Amino acid sequence: MKLLPVISLLALTSATSALDNGLMRTPPMGWMSWERFRCNIDCENDPKNCISENLFRDMADRLAEDGWKEMGYDHVMIDDCWSSMLRDKDGRLQPDPQRFPGGIAKLARYLHDRGLKLGIYGDLGTHTCGGYPGTTLDKIDTDAQTFASWGVDFLKLDGCYSNEEEQQKGYPLMSKALNATGRPIGYSCSWPAYRGGLPPSVNYTLLGEICNLWRNYDDIQDSWDSVQDITDWFFDNQEILQPEAGPGRWNDPDMLIIGNFGLSVDQSRSQMALWAIMAAPLIMSNNLRTLSSEARAILQNGAAIAINQDPMGVQGRRLLQERSQIEVYWRPLSQSASALVFLSRRQDMPYRYHTCLAKLNYTAGSYEAYDVFTGKTLSGLSATTEFTVSINPSGVVMWYVYPKMHYEHLQEDGRYPYIRQKYRMSSSLRFHNPRVVPPSLL
Ligand code: GLA
Repeated sequence: MKLLPVISLLALTSATSALDNGLMRTPPMGWMSWERFRCNIDCENDPKNCISENLFRDMADRLAEDGWKEMGYDHVMIDDCWSSMLRDKDGRLQPDPQRFPGGIAKLARYLHDRGLKLGIYGDLGTHTCGGYPGTTLDKIDTDAQTFASWGVDFLKLDGCYSNEEEQQKGYPLMSKALNATGRPIGYSCSWPAYRGGLPPSVNYTLLGEICNLWRNYDDIQDSWDSVQDITDWFFDNQEILQPEAGPGRWNDPDMLIIGNFGLSVDQSRSQMALWAIMAAPLIMSNNLRTLSSEARAILQNGAAIAINQDPMGVQGRRLLQERSQIEVYWRPLSQSASALVFLSRRQDMPYRYHTCLAKLNYTAGSYEAYDVFTGKTLSGLSATTEFTVSINPSGVVMWYVYPKMHYEHLQEDGRYPYIRQKYRMSSSLRFHNPRVVPPSLL
């Protein structure tokens, strides 16, 4: 009862405002340890894969040397199980001395020297989900200051072992405490995931003001089932979730598992495409040392990343769920462009899906479509031009669609060459051949 006036005041004043730290105007990108490396602390028997400073330094080397940083993947994020089981004599968190002998500040310097940022994990509660020391309400200021003094750039604050009331107090308090350090620190809140992810238990207006991103739902696992479950939950609830995202405030459907064991090449493209449509953080959890060339090509796909990182920051929506088990997703992008994803939930064979842009809510005009995964361009599409896309089982076809006149204008003023260079888009965008629209892309 007492909260009502506060909530209605917030609703009036700040429905679209974001956390005022100026960070993460586009979804954050990088690498995080949890999904792939979990709480493996057995450095004696598994030194390459245990949670230790070596693992994070290795991943930083890969990000810096294998073209990831240039594509925007600039965060290395430590997840659970990094700390000692005991706080130090002044009550501060400290890293496990065997696994992080150099300390976190030194690791942060290593990353900063390579143009990267360091993320760390904490938990609002008595313990982290893995059983390490948590941040109780009385420790919030201390922990924020410790992280800032180490040069940390990002905090994921989990919510195991705390109740609703503690979360209601603690998540806003940590936001204030981080701001008070004077160091810009991106802030990811797991709060909604612990409250069912939906209103009225979750107040997204408030979350947008105090966090840069938030985990809404269950943890991702290394399987296509898990990717589908997460996708369904986010798009089934798109009326609620979609308007809450924007520059500086993002829904987080969890890590990219591309490059691990659970997804085929087609399913990997599907996760990349859907996460781009959702304006989701692109935080990989995989082994960058041993990534296949296919996985790397998907994760470094310039057009998919450009769509994900679109400066307008509008989250996309599911437009259609056909009886044929084809689904169509759409995201509006800056400069009158848009992205389309055709996803097949079928398990038989490639499906030839016939449609036209008018059926997907496009207005009259002349369009071009760049196929994100084949690099081919389809020219001269009008809204009523019928076309066919062939979609593999559990795969996608993803298009970057732009109005033709508009594009030529942009080409002259040089903005597109910048995007192409930055995201290494294929040259077919540059020199698209005017040709008769084929009935099928393939
Ligand atoms: C929770 C989070 C995960 C991960 C683990 C660590 O399950 O949702 O992302 O951080 O805790 O224990």
